[in-house]
Amino acid sequence: MTALRIDGKAFAATLAAALGAEIAASASGGVVPGLAVVLVGDDPASAIYVANKERTAKQLGFHSVGHRLPASAGEAEVLALVRALNADPAIDGILVQLPLPKGIDARRIIDAIDPAKDVDGLTAVNAGRLVLGEAGLVPCTPLGCLLLLDAFGGPLAGAHAVVIGRSNLVGKPIAQLLLQRDCTVTMAHSRTRDLPAVVRGADIVIAAVGRPEMVRGSWIKPGAVVIDVGINRLPAPPDGKGRIVGDVAYAEAAEVARAITPVPGGVGPMTIACLLRNTWQACRTRRGLSAAGP
Ligand code: GUN
Repeated sequence: MTALRIDGKAFAATLAAALGAEIAASASGGVVPGLAVVLVGDDPASAIYVANKERTAKQLGFHSVGHRLPASAGEAEVLALVRALNADPAIDGILVQLPLPKGIDARRIIDAIDPAKDVDGLTAVNAGRLVLGEAGLVPCTPLGCLLLLDAFGGPLAGAHAVVIGRSNLVGKPIAQLLLQRDCTVTMAHSRTRDLPAVVRGADIVIAAVGRPEMVRGSWIKPGAVVIDVGINRLPAPPDGKGRIVGDVAYAEAAEVARAITPVPGGVGPMTIACLLRNTWQACRTRRGLSAAGP
């Protein structure tokens, strides 16, 4: 079997186009959703991610504001910026790019964000709502994975999903989303015994460990759906260019899986589309235009 290659880039572009059309219609009525992205320090990968978020937001008609603070900024300075953005009526969504420089307590900063503007879904309030199954803002990458599974990997109810990785950003929230959709969820991580055997039991594999090509084709159950969240930059060999690979050995896994996301071009583009979807949701909810989705 050769797996269906799930084209996250095309799917995200379709989502973005629909969002852009809604925002154009809303702008004619005077409502423009506002997104503020905060970058502290000079991590080069974060700078690229943030620039992509800001550019896509502008393209789709959002009021997009970038804030850059030096790595030397203290926690008090970042907190003051977050509080100013909380109070700014033109801003519907606030994203503080992670990781933050050493010496800044990321949990304190994230929890200073007004939960109604927490378009990353990372505050304790929104994380709690997700666990309780209440409406709230859901982290962007897990939401992107779920939309891809709905479109290409269904049905979810009763399926055994194995999530590899237990981060607050991806592993824990995707497990909650899948549980809500009636999957049987196993959370695996670096201390899991016989990980290949655990993954072989999965109808759905979510790989979010950050280790290049760790999940091998021989671990995948024939017909499983594989969602690869990893973005790992391999150093350039002396005679060539560096490569970006996922957490799954794509070519091997594609021989056995029913469907699989590539890296790049799979989950990555969905993260930005879902950030903008969340910002639009926050805008509508805050301004009383409709009830919270998704
Ligand atoms: N760093 C890597 N991914 C993310 C994300 O989705 N949100 C934030 N805030 N930081 C990140």
